[in-house]
Amino acid sequence: MKKILVTGGLGFIGSHTVVELQNEGYEVVIIDDLSNSTIDVLDKIISITGKEPLYENLDLKNQESVQQFFKKHNTIDGIIHFAASKAVGESVEKPLKYYHNNISTLIYVLEGMKSNKVNNFIFSSSCTVYGQADVMPITEDAPFKTAESPYGNTKQIGEEIIFDTTKVSNLNAIALRYFNPIGAHESAKIGELPIGVPQNLIPYVTQTGAKIREQLSVFGGDYPTPDGTAVRDYIHVVDLAKAHIAAMKRLLENKNNASFEVFNIGTGTGSSVLDVIKAFEKVSGEPLNYKIVDRREGDITEAYADTTLANKELNWQTELNLEDALATAWKWQQTLK
Ligand code: UD1
Repeated sequence: MKKILVTGGLGFIGSHTVVELQNEGYEVVIIDDLSNSTIDVLDKIISITGKEPLYENLDLKNQESVQQFFKKHNTIDGIIHFAASKAVGESVEKPLKYYHNNISTLIYVLEGMKSNKVNNFIFSSSCTVYGQADVMPITEDAPFKTAESPYGNTKQIGEEIIFDTTKVSNLNAIALRYFNPIGAHESAKIGELPIGVPQNLIPYVTQTGAKIREQLSVFGGDYPTPDGTAVRDYIHVVDLAKAHIAAMKRLLENKNNASFEVFNIGTGTGSSVLDVIKAFEKVSGEPLNYKIVDRREGDITEAYADTTLANKELNWQTELNLEDALATAWKWQQTLK
């Protein structure tokens, strides 16, 4: 049984990935400092899978703790590194926090891997590295555009740090560039925990549906898209979690074609904000109160993935669609009331 370390394993994508790893028979060790999660997520993971992962509350910014962790856990076969801060607006306000949280921690984890001779690494990257790509759907060879935010920059720099490290060591790494992850586990035991007023579309939609928010503002109705609202590729978090298992298997079985590979992880389908609203109204059976307002600064017009490479090389496809994702997000929202 292979042992996988999941950093940020109690967060939104991390917790769903831990569930899928355990379902596939992997032994899991979680590191999470609870900065954007709560400890009861661990109980929920146990109740879904019937298995208890090892858990350490550890701050990856503390280099010495990371070194001690790797001394203690010297039988890890692979690492999936989610731990990072992800609020775009906050990253503009507090750039050093983001560089410290997302870059220092990555370096400490890579150093720990080197000292323990762990060579298999999956990195949480983002479609944000492409900015507004010139061609849709976006393929992995689309160039990086100047990052819109320190958060986006940490994903670009993170990939570069890993790539440079693979060139001079035995490290084999895969960066997964997520499009827009949404939804929740079908059990509604784990999902996205919104803190304060949601910045992302789907938590705002479900909170408006639940009457926690009065009205959804649709940012921009004059984009050059079929209905004038911006287009994104919304992927169910369970499909996304499964992509991590496929990527880890590829590394564990030495099936990778290069020591550093990147894959887009999306559905391949673009949906507008109005498409999301319509799908939500269908699955919830409730009309949604919304209003079209000005564009949000920094937003791009459209981004959706070409997933050919991931489909072929990872032998992975999505199994769930936008309605499935919104139905689970809605079920999850109702548990939060
Ligand atoms: C955002 C981040 C991106 C990050 C991703 C993670 C920004 C600018 N970008 O992407 O870097 O990787 O989250 O999931 O924050 N919308 C509304 N009303 C709302 C909220 C959103 O109309 O109240 C629209 C947005 O204008 C956008 C779409 O919904 O067109 C999706 O927005 P969001 O969920 O915030 O994701 P992104 O902006 O694509």
